[in-house]
Amino acid sequence: MSAASHPAFPSVRMRRLRRDAFSRNMVRETQLSAANLIWPVFVIEGEQRTQVVASMPGVERVSIDILVERAKEAATLGVGAIALFPMFEGPKTLLAEEAYREDGLIPRAVRALKAAVPDIGVITDVALDPYISHGQDGLIDDSGYVMNDETVAVLVKQALSHARAGADYVAPSDMMDGRIGALRAALDAEGFIQTKIIAYSAKFASSFYGPFRDAVGSATNLGKSSKETYQLDFANSDEAIRECALDVAEGADMLMVKPGLPYLDILARVKDEFKMPVAVYQVSGEFAMLKAAAANGWLDYKKCLLETLICFRRAGASAILTYGALDAARWIRGDGS
Ligand code: PBG
Repeated sequence: MSAASHPAFPSVRMRRLRRDAFSRNMVRETQLSAANLIWPVFVIEGEQRTQVVASMPGVERVSIDILVERAKEAATLGVGAIALFPMFEGPKTLLAEEAYREDGLIPRAVRALKAAVPDIGVITDVALDPYISHGQDGLIDDSGYVMNDETVAVLVKQALSHARAGADYVAPSDMMDGRIGALRAALDAEGFIQTKIIAYSAKFASSFYGPFRDAVGSATNLGKSSKETYQLDFANSDEAIRECALDVAEGADMLMVKPGLPYLDILARVKDEFKMPVAVYQVSGEFAMLKAAAANGWLDYKKCLLETLICFRRAGASAILTYGALDAARWIRGDGS
């Protein structure tokens, strides 16, 4: 039946509500606020240091002093939280001892942020890949297989070092089994009952992480190896739900789906099944695609970025990790073009 011959037409005209701006704004079902945004930032040692990340135009690695300045700007713009990722310049080891050093780069960055910018949330990445000689997210056995329980024991030490520094959220991105329960128990045992956990629950073995691995310097170490023995197969949806169910039972405060745009079905399903806050990560490769197309004049970066962020909200995300968080926050405010 054609639209024009539908019995409800012409008394029902869907376009009536869309004619005027006030009306479109009034019936808009989804809102995006800077408070929904989480800004991932790459941190390096030193003072007054910045480095560009070639595969992520506009993204820099920054030393802690500059991080603090950027965080002040983010807080002024109302950005909800900053997610810290280390670029550890070595030496990387087989046991990733640097990952849980109390005065390591990340604990120092957290202390500096909490002292200078108390209003912005601080989220730390719990994972070994930036510190480990082979670039995997865990300790390996003689055959190169990533060992689960041995890795979880190190992740616990790492998360505790972040919590002691004052992190608001620890965010395990490793995909080991049982890590949420182990982290919750260890945090509680040390009295960190307020330290929240964002679980990278539905994290897929994706090729969209390429530019991130350049940014944290794990790409070369990882070489041709993959993370398919622990990250989810991107063909699977039910398995992602099982991962989420386990993390909910183990005490996760928020779940995460990653990557973002190609996985909106997973995001919507997770939100629908668990009725709890879900974060989504618009990963480095998604950001690089937008930037590359914009640099060629093929896409409008501002419009496309804001569209993707609204789409994440519509699909059910409470929080969105995006490298465009500061840009978006400025545009939401109405600054710049
Ligand atoms: C690894 C980690 C990755 C990302 C965040 N944490 C990459 C990976 O799993 O290899 C990817 C983020 C991005 O691509 O923006 N612990």
